[in-house]
Amino acid sequence: MQQAGVSSPQRVFKVVFIGNSGVGKSSFIHHYCRGHFPNKMSTTVGMDFQVRSLVLDSTQIALQLWDTAGQERFHSITTQYYRKADGILVMYDVTQATSLMTVRDWLDQVQKNKADGACVMLLGNKMDMEDGGGRQVTTMQGQNLAEEYQAEFFECSAKSGHNIQEAMTHLARLMGAQQDKQCESVLHSLDNSGHRGHCCT
Ligand code: GTP
Ligand code: MG
Repeated sequence: MQQAGVSSPQRVFKVVFIGNSGVGKSSFIHHYCRGHFPNKMSTTVGMDFQVRSLVLDSTQIALQLWDTAGQERFHSITTQYYRKADGILVMYDVTQATSLMTVRDWLDQVQKNKADGACVMLLGNKMDMEDGGGRQVTTMQGQNLAEEYQAEFFECSAKSGHNIQEAMTHLARLMGAQQDKQCESVLHSLDNSGHRGHCCT
């Protein structure tokens, strides 16, 4: 994968980050888009938005990254943003045991409100802190939770950069495959109904 130039993308995906305040959503997006961990990150108010372009298997992709505010008072508006998302990243903090419990609430909400076929990924952030004995949530706990909700799973560090590219590339591939599947099923139903014109291939 490489960062694409300015030419127009062949595919555009909407990706929404959600999770409690302080888990590291904005730091992760900052590192992914600008290549480094921000020294100082203020809590997000309302919503932030960034675009990252990439080339994946010779296809130019633009990822619209919507960074939601984790603070309780913004939760009602957050739902509106992921209803039409192609990808939803639900983040928790591996150094906070309570974080894993509250992430269930987010996953429940996502299951209720997400679009059909949206790709969901659970991300356990701040892995860099496990060396100092800071880890409170095991990899297995995260993995089990992801399986329960049929979500993809990665542990990562917005600070060290560990698994940032890997998680986002994996998500981009999944969203691409999902879009292909949806297009095929539309074409298939057009074929069956006899409505597919000569110009459509
Ligand atoms: P809200 O905007 O309030 O929802 O929070 P957020 O999820 O966007 O968290 P943010 O990125 O602002 O990070 C919160 C704090 O955690 C900041 O002090 C970051 O420096 C720190 N932080 C974020 N990611 C990591 C990480 O991977 N490792 C470590 N050690 N600290 C991190
Ligand atoms: Mg933030």
